[in-house]
Formats: sequence, C-alpha cells, structure tokens
Amino acid sequence: PTLEAAELERTFIAIKPDGVQRGLISEIINRFERKGYKLVAIKLVIPTKEFAEKHYDDLRGRPFFNGLCDFLSSGPVVAMVWEGQGVIKYGRKLIGATSPHNSEPGTIRGDLAISVGRNIIHGSDGPETAKAEISLWFKPDDLINYTANAEKWLY
Ligand code: TYD
Repeated sequence: PTLEAAELERTFIAIKPDGVQRGLISEIINRFERKGYKLVAIKLVIPTKEFAEKHYDDLRGRPFFNGLCDFLSSGPVVAMVWEGQGVIKYGRKLIGATSPHNSEPGTIRGDLAISVGRNIIHGSDGPETAKAEISLWFKPDDLINYTANAEKWLY
C-alpha cells in the first residue's frame, strides 16, 4: 500500500562503540529490519570528542557528560537513519529504557546490555531531535530514496 508522505517518519539510530566492539551490529540492524522499518542511510564513523559533545549537547552539565562523550568518540559508531510509520517512538521501544537495569527483556538494551554507561545504542527521542541528529550526522544526499520491494527479487 502507498503511504501518505506525512506518515513517513525518519529517526537517527547509532550503534555505540561497545555495540560495534561486541559484534552486535547485525543483531541490532536485524531487529529494525524485521519490524519492517527501512534503512535509508548508514555509515561507520569514529566521531571526534567535539562531535560527540555536539551530539549530546542537551546533556552538557550532567555529571556523566564528559565520560559519555569520551566513550562515544572511543571507536567506530554505526550511524543510521531508519524510516517508517512511527519509527521515532517505536524505535525507542525496540531500544528499551536508558538504564539496562530497567529495560525489559525483549528490548535491545534489555537483552544485550548491563550498564547505563555502556548501553550499546542511541535513538532520537522525538521529532525535533530526530531532525537535528539526522542533519548533524548526514548530508541530505546520504539519505537514499527507494521503494522496498522484496517480491521483486524472489523467484
Ligand atoms: P539520555 O539521552 O538520557 O538517554 P537515551 O540514550 O536513552 O536517550 O542519555 C544519553 C546517554 O547518556 C545514555 O544512553 C547513557 C548515558 N547516561 C549515563 O551514562 N548515565 C546516566 O545517568 C544517564 C541518564 C545517561
């Protein structure tokens, strides 16, 4: 079915350095793919400390801010944009609560992480941050427009 353009929503998702180092890239991408969301941009990047501080700008002043930015810039991050109906809110649901102590089994953090400082994945927390984070991490041309059509490739 064709969806109204207004229903198509995009969010920024990043697999943090611990998720990459632990070999969880495919596991995490798999969960978004199986749900039915569409990958429209992806890259592997080591953010600078300054870039990490920009990404977490709203957390400046929190006691964990410096350690958090050191951590995010400590190694490769898989930066992605996912598209689909309700993807901002539901992506957060797939990810689970910020602290893995509180995240339910069945969520990414609930199943795969132990500690709040090493919670393996980031997801935009609302429409405004999604827009800001996508344009911080990607150029407009990096976002790929295509129609997902699995049947076309099945014989
Ligand atoms: P936040 O934006 O509150 O959470 P989320 O990633 O779920 O949107 O915080 C950003 C990151 O900061 C969080 O993923 C892990 C880290 N963090 C800590 O290390 N200690 C804390 O007490 C909090 C609240 C967050």
